[in-house]
Amino acid sequence: MSEPYLAVNWNRVSDAIDKATWEKLTEQFWLDTRIPVSNDLDDWRTLDQDHQWIVGHVFGGLTLLDTLQSQDGLASLRKHVRTPQETAVLNNIQFMESVHAKSYSTIFSTLNTPDEIDEIFDWSDSEEYLQNKTRWIYDIYRDDTVDPLKQKVANVFLETCLFYSGFYTPLYYLGNNKLTNVAEIIKLIIRDESVHGTYIGYKFQLGFNQRPQSEQDQLKDWMYDLLYKLYENEEHYTHILYDQVGWTDQVLTFVRYNANKALMNLGQDPLFPDTADDVNPIVMNGISTSTANHDFFSQVGNGYRLGQVEAMKNSDYDIGKPKDK
Ligand SMILES: [Fe+2]
Ligand SMILES: [Fe+2]
Repeated sequence: MSEPYLAVNWNRVSDAIDKATWEKLTEQFWLDTRIPVSNDLDDWRTLDQDHQWIVGHVFGGLTLLDTLQSQDGLASLRKHVRTPQETAVLNNIQFMESVHAKSYSTIFSTLNTPDEIDEIFDWSDSEEYLQNKTRWIYDIYRDDTVDPLKQKVANVFLETCLFYSGFYTPLYYLGNNKLTNVAEIIKLIIRDESVHGTYIGYKFQLGFNQRPQSEQDQLKDWMYDLLYKLYENEEHYTHILYDQVGWTDQVLTFVRYNANKALMNLGQDPLFPDTADDVNPIVMNGISTSTANHDFFSQVGNGYRLGQVEAMKNSDYDIGKPKDK
């Protein structure tokens, strides 16, 4: 007889982290369409052309990375799960990556003209260094012969490090109390990415710790080589985005700080000397600002409008009849 197909049983959870992560992710669910980005138009108009260019293109790059995650990143991880609940968590993450990828379009449609939007997508579909990092990670995801632990490493490097050259810009503006609704979307994305990176890093460590020492050493060499290659590419990418406003050095400090955090998620030692103290305090301020108007029930942030729900009553069907006073 062939192997039976097994139903996922949430009453027999072998890894409590799966359940805790599912609960955290579903609790912090959000949608881009509920954030009033148009409230940022006045701030947007005060930015000069160079700064507007950076905001648009940074988000073009982020769209590409979230597209990669939603189309291929989580699908590759789902082939090598340890538990059926892990599959459910990865499904949740994959859907949220689609929300992330779409949310930049919500921002574009508010701040940019149709011609500008076309130009941004042409740019992200062709910019050399952006395409480099995307291709390198994609090649690892789609290779069915590669060690599945390497796919987890690639995923965490993308989640916890490669996004941050882009996140710098909205966090900088948030730290200056500008573009706060745009930044709120980015903070919701960062909050998701932080759970994703921690969870995938945790699953990596479970597998890594079962490997013999020699394999662990090889994997370590491979991951530090990959991170360094990605970082070198990120230097070029950052220069292209930020040289015109002189932010390149501070952005690269932020990237190195997050590269170390990615290694930490994987249970490894830091590669760079940079710590939180080295990062521009305005950006750290942006990242740490607790969400304004925090909603007690939804635990989602500033500007997020929770649907008002009440139970149906018989009188709701009395359409066209005079209301009871
Ligand atoms: Fe994402
Ligand atoms: Fe993610």
